[in-house]
Amino acid sequence: MNKTGTRVIETERLILRPLTVDDAEDMYRNWASDPEVTKYLTWPPHPDAELTRALLKDWVSRYEAGNFFNWAIVWKETGEVIGNISVVSLTEQIGAAEIGYCMGRRFWGQGIMPEALLAVEDYLFETVGLLRICAGHDVNNPKSGRVMDKAGMTREGVLRQSGKNNQGIVDVEIHSILRSEWEERRKGGSRESR
Ligand SMILES: CC(C)(COP(=O)(O)OP(=O)(O)OC[C@H]1O[C@@H](n2cnc3c(N)ncnc32)[C@H](O)[C@@H]1OP(=O)(O)O)[C@@H](O)C(=O)NCCC(=O)NCCS
Repeated sequence: MNKTGTRVIETERLILRPLTVDDAEDMYRNWASDPEVTKYLTWPPHPDAELTRALLKDWVSRYEAGNFFNWAIVWKETGEVIGNISVVSLTEQIGAAEIGYCMGRRFWGQGIMPEALLAVEDYLFETVGLLRICAGHDVNNPKSGRVMDKAGMTREGVLRQSGKNNQGIVDVEIHSILRSEWEERRKGGSRESR
């Protein structure tokens, strides 16, 4: 695994870049304070922007290690930070990562997160050299599963009562893409699996 860290990635509509402490206002306003965004997430909404700032300080301190991957999703049109996408768990021995993401409600339904996830997959396979990328979602949050479908992941199955989020203990559906599948996609196959 190459410890290249969170490098800047550009897509058609987005810039993915390391977060900074100055992103606290956008992060708090756009997604961290919204109970509708955190409904299926493991953390409660932030009560104030100070908590957001403290969390960002911690994240920023971890970038230097090179094995911490956490991107701000910047909407190019306005320069606003609208969400984030990160590696929430990394198993270096087998080159495997689990991805998590969230974004402000105003931006839902425009295919933004699939665009970000496709770009992160490209980076993690091509530059970091990973072999497997997976993601999981509460079975009651199928719209997140649609993001995984659109980013070419395959549904592996449901792990019953394997997660805990703001809804309690929940069943989690796991999706993944392997390096070999990503290589096929690169050769010109379809990006969306269904
Ligand atoms: C899940 C999430 C990342 C989806 O990102 P997105 O950029 O809106 O993704 P898409 O535009 O591809 O839409 C995905 C699905 O969301 C649903 N959706 C679309 N617009 C929506 C809207 N305005 N409101 C609610 N759901 C909507 C649709 O089911 C869509 O699937 P479809 O394209 O097959 O109809 C986003 O809703 C989010 O940040 N949710 C809160 C945090 C979260 O749940 N994170 C995932 C934890 S596993």
